Amino acid sequence: MSATESFSAWWVSEQSSDLRSTHRDELGPGDTLVRVEFSGINYKDGLALQHKPGVLRGYPMIPGIDLVGFIEESELDQWQPGERVLLNGSGLGETHNGGLAQYARVAGSDLITVPQQISNFRAAAIGTAGFTAMLSVLALEDAGLTPEAGPVLVTGAAGGVGSIAITLLSGLGYEVVAASGRADSASSYLTELGARRIIPRTDLSEPGRPLQSQEFAAVVDSVGSHTLVNALARLNYGGLATVCGLAQGPDLPGTVLPFILRGVHLIGINSVYAPRALRERAWKRLARDLNLDHLDSLTRSIPMSEVGDAGARILAGELRGRTVVDVDA
Ligand SMILES: NC(=O)c1ccc[n+]([C@@H]2O[C@H](COP(=O)([O-])OP(=O)(O)OC[C@H]3O[C@@H](n4cnc5c(N)ncnc54)[C@H](OP(=O)(O)O)[C@@H]3O)[C@@H](O)[C@H]2O)c1
Repeated sequence: MSATESFSAWWVSEQSSDLRSTHRDELGPGDTLVRVEFSGINYKDGLALQHKPGVLRGYPMIPGIDLVGFIEESELDQWQPGERVLLNGSGLGETHNGGLAQYARVAGSDLITVPQQISNFRAAAIGTAGFTAMLSVLALEDAGLTPEAGPVLVTGAAGGVGSIAITLLSGLGYEVVAASGRADSASSYLTELGARRIIPRTDLSEPGRPLQSQEFAAVVDSVGSHTLVNALARLNYGGLATVCGLAQGPDLPGTVLPFILRGVHLIGINSVYAPRALRERAWKRLARDLNLDHLDSLTRSIPMSEVGDAGARILAGELRGRTVVDVDA
């Protein structure tokens, strides 16, 4: 690309979110220029596109916390033009211009090589949501969880993190119970991904007793609030909870009883600032363990023109699985 050539990018300003023609010198600083092929729609991208506070640290900004593409040019010896790379988080689409554009300028040290077994499209389908689901599974394994311990609950089941967590856990031999607001309409979808049983979201989303019948060895939660508190109250003695999201709310309206009477462990998951070694470990495991047929079945692709609509729909809980953005379409 010549310095004067223009390309398409979504821009969010205080008042609006628009797809517009952009020049390379608008991208901001960074030692590496990436020709983006695919980005995606995560919950955070929905917040950014809808001007909700807490994601974009300044305006105007190109949103998009994920990108997959090719090295265009880099000041680092580590990267050569044409190499396939991906980036999830590290401030992309939050503190600096993001992936919802045909080009992105980034710190080359934040990029990861796309695993050979995974196409660029599938790497974008995995995106931050799938990376976070894998981080959650790794955290459970590191804490000693095995399939023999008992069923694992996945909340926000039909969402991006939830869908990929279900297929990963079921593929690893866990008995997965899915909690979903779409227990009826998405039941065959969730079962095909590997959920053994589906419970309605409302079983968990209202205030409940601080200790309930012990049902689950672990929970992968992307919902927070009463849902997480009820899940904690249903964990077995020594049960594990990974917590990454706040789709119901950021509050934690519970008691210490599951921790002090049942030895429950609460494990926070943050994908944005995950260290490089953990990123590489997670992507290696995704390449080894993720069922790519399941991944394809939970993914749809949209052109850049539909990004604004998709951002509104993910916040309304209307998107299922993962949405890849083809930045050239
Ligand atoms: N910590 C991190 O590094 C990290 C990384 C990735 C994502 N996240 C967070 O994880 C959450 C999920 O992200 P995502 O990309 O998977 O989003 P998503 O695709 O929108 O999935 C969220 C799911 O939560 C459920 N849900 C939505 N509103 C709800 C409500 N009011 N009460 C209960 N459940 C509700 C829905 O599933 P059902 O229809 O099946 O109920 C929805 O599909 C977000 O809060 C996101 O910010 C955090």
